[in-house]
Amino acid sequence: MQVKKAIIPAAGLGTRMLPISHAVPKEMLPIVDLPAIYYLVEEAAKSGITDVLVITNRDKDAMEDFFDLSVEYNAALKAKGREEDLAALRKIADLANVYFLRQKETKGLGHAVGRARAFVGDEPFVILYGDDIIFSRAPVCKQMIDVYEKYGKPVVGVKAVPKELVSKYCSLKIYPVENEDRVFFCTDMIEKPKTEAEMFSNYSILGRVLATPEIFDIIDALPPGAGGEIQLTDALAQVSRKGGVFALDFEGERYDLGSKTGFLKANVVKGLEHPETRDELRAFLKEIAKDL
Ligand code: UTP
Repeated sequence: MQVKKAIIPAAGLGTRMLPISHAVPKEMLPIVDLPAIYYLVEEAAKSGITDVLVITNRDKDAMEDFFDLSVEYNAALKAKGREEDLAALRKIADLANVYFLRQKETKGLGHAVGRARAFVGDEPFVILYGDDIIFSRAPVCKQMIDVYEKYGKPVVGVKAVPKELVSKYCSLKIYPVENEDRVFFCTDMIEKPKTEAEMFSNYSILGRVLATPEIFDIIDALPPGAGGEIQLTDALAQVSRKGGVFALDFEGERYDLGSKTGFLKANVVKGLEHPETRDELRAFLKEIAKDL
């Protein structure tokens, strides 16, 4: 079955980005001149996804407005003859059908994903964590869909992380797959392992999961896990132990927009690419680097 749907959990409190996250969802913070959520919807759309559900808590209006056309802006830009700006806004509005649903209670990533049952129906779907943007040659969603189409099982997007960071993420029990460089078979995982003895490997899920609807019954029955939250990893662990999932070491550079440094790095990288900012920014960085 073709993968046509995606969900973006974006309802977290974003405490690592306080004070700004108190008033603005981190998914709406700009990477140069586009909000983080744009990059996620664009990645999904470029991967063949037609329908995207964003799970929010508050301030969904700003996100909704961003993917809509504004009569006022249209008229003003037309009057000024700014056809290029008009076309850019239309392109954003036409990326995909973007829907919104409130999580209502911030009970964890697994709980947020569980809200999407009716939207997903009986189809496979991609989950893009709302604070993880990945700059890559081929969109990571598409890389994940290719693995799903080849093997017909759920797929988790993984990266090897420094050992001391595994306790912040999760740890996967993985095995090589014949004739594959970047694809592994995963039979178990643990969220935020506390000790080295609890760790299976230093491969962690980072930002992308391709799941099948069986996950919803598992999520509904889950007790709170690490941090007292309903953890997506706990649900995926059950799927892995039952029939296994595939793990893709995706090609791409991930930026954690839930952290202040991740957010700044993403802005520097995109700022050095953007035609309006790249030259001045490069000169500025070179200048201040002299005194670092
Ligand atoms: P994080 O744990 O990174 O986000 O969740 P957070 O809870 O907002 O961050 P901190 O630790 O307080 O700074 C990963 C993703 O899951 C979403 C978040 O919005 C983020 O995109 N999430 C998390 C939800 O949608 N609902 C939740 O209840 C928790």
